[in-house]
Amino acid sequence: MINIPKGTKDVLPSQVYKWHYIENVARKTAEEYGFKEIRTPVFEHTELFSRGVGETSDIVTKEMYTFLDKGGRSVTLRPEGTAGVARAFLENGLQGGALPFRAYYLYSAYRYERPQAGRLREFHQFGAELYGASSPAADAETVAFADRFLKRLGLREISLQINSIGCPECRAKYQDALRDYFRPHLSEMCPDCRVRFEKNPMRMLDCKVEECKKIAAGAPHMLEYLCDDCRAHFEEVKRLLSGAGVAFTVDPSIVRGLDYYSRTVFEFTSKAAGAQGTVLGGGRYDGLLAQMGAKSVPAVGFAAGIERLLMVLEAENVPIPEPRGVKCYLAGLDAAGREKAFLLAEELRGKGISCETDLLDRSVKAQFKYADKLGAEYVAVIGESELLSGEAELKDMKSSGSVRVKFEELAQYLSKR
Ligand code: HAM
Repeated sequence: MINIPKGTKDVLPSQVYKWHYIENVARKTAEEYGFKEIRTPVFEHTELFSRGVGETSDIVTKEMYTFLDKGGRSVTLRPEGTAGVARAFLENGLQGGALPFRAYYLYSAYRYERPQAGRLREFHQFGAELYGASSPAADAETVAFADRFLKRLGLREISLQINSIGCPECRAKYQDALRDYFRPHLSEMCPDCRVRFEKNPMRMLDCKVEECKKIAAGAPHMLEYLCDDCRAHFEEVKRLLSGAGVAFTVDPSIVRGLDYYSRTVFEFTSKAAGAQGTVLGGGRYDGLLAQMGAKSVPAVGFAAGIERLLMVLEAENVPIPEPRGVKCYLAGLDAAGREKAFLLAEELRGKGISCETDLLDRSVKAQFKYADKLGAEYVAVIGESELLSGEAELKDMKSSGSVRVKFEELAQYLSKR
């Protein structure tokens, strides 16, 4: 047998209702905030991600699924949703339409990571992007949207950390300060951090290696280096969030793993997500669209991992309503009964009533057992005497009571229940 590739998962029919639950809450919340769905390709030109997500990010340096197609072009399975949405926005000329532009997505992403609980190679994201608004209100609204989504799912033990990583000008000064701080410790730090030191020292702040973490704990904070505009922006974001009742803590170690962010960054974390504590992350990324060739278009957004949300929902014991089984199972007692059951089932489905009938020539006992497993609400039994009388024996599987209902009245009877 050929097994599933490492780091991927099947979603079985018995479990898919949990995905639908998350997706329904996501869609409903997104639409309340004026977001419409966008769908972009699973693969894009590699350059979109290497330039967009950033040359120094772990995603680009280590984790991309990149290959040459038969035409010799380098393409990459999307490691995240933001770069593709930005490309679609520009390529379709949407900056000429109504701004702010708001789009959400529910789709798969691919990262060649070492799989563990909550970390997969194929995973799924619910993400949202808002373009064309640079105001602190846009950041606050985006965070409030994410917060509402998580609360509406029923999650309670999630906390929000926010930070500002400033604009390119104030960040440059901060990066100098960071290099000054890290320089004497470089020999004790991991090889990745030594590369980050040259390319993007802020990424040294979220290194997961214990020794590096200890050193990073004493590093200066970006918040002390924010320019006046960035500081005022961050103060206003915090003020609006507090006013909206969104609880948060300011955590200077939140720098995010992707290179495109500026100013506000945020993460929602849960202890229940294990080592992979972040269930949702995002921030402002005013430079990305300009870097892709647009006039400057300010942008802010977030993405949540569906598999991590599922883990956390389970850990918090959030009840997810299970779907009902089929409305009616039509059991045939003999060949003629079976045929009538087949025809009646087709008629009922045509009237919007879900039903199943026997396809395996099973005994009546086996048919009842199967109907029970299906969670059928009713079982209609059809044999010789039912064919003669034109009525089915309809058993209510919950109460075990039964009634006789004329074949032609079955649809009406069932649709009322
Ligand atoms: P990210 O933090 O890389 O941000 O991913 C967002 C979320 O996707 C994470 O918080 C996590 O729940 C989930 N996730 C990431 N990697 C994996 C994985 N290997 N296995 C399972 N789940 C995973 C972004 O992707 C940005 N594009 C978010 C964004 C949108 N920023 C602005 N707009």
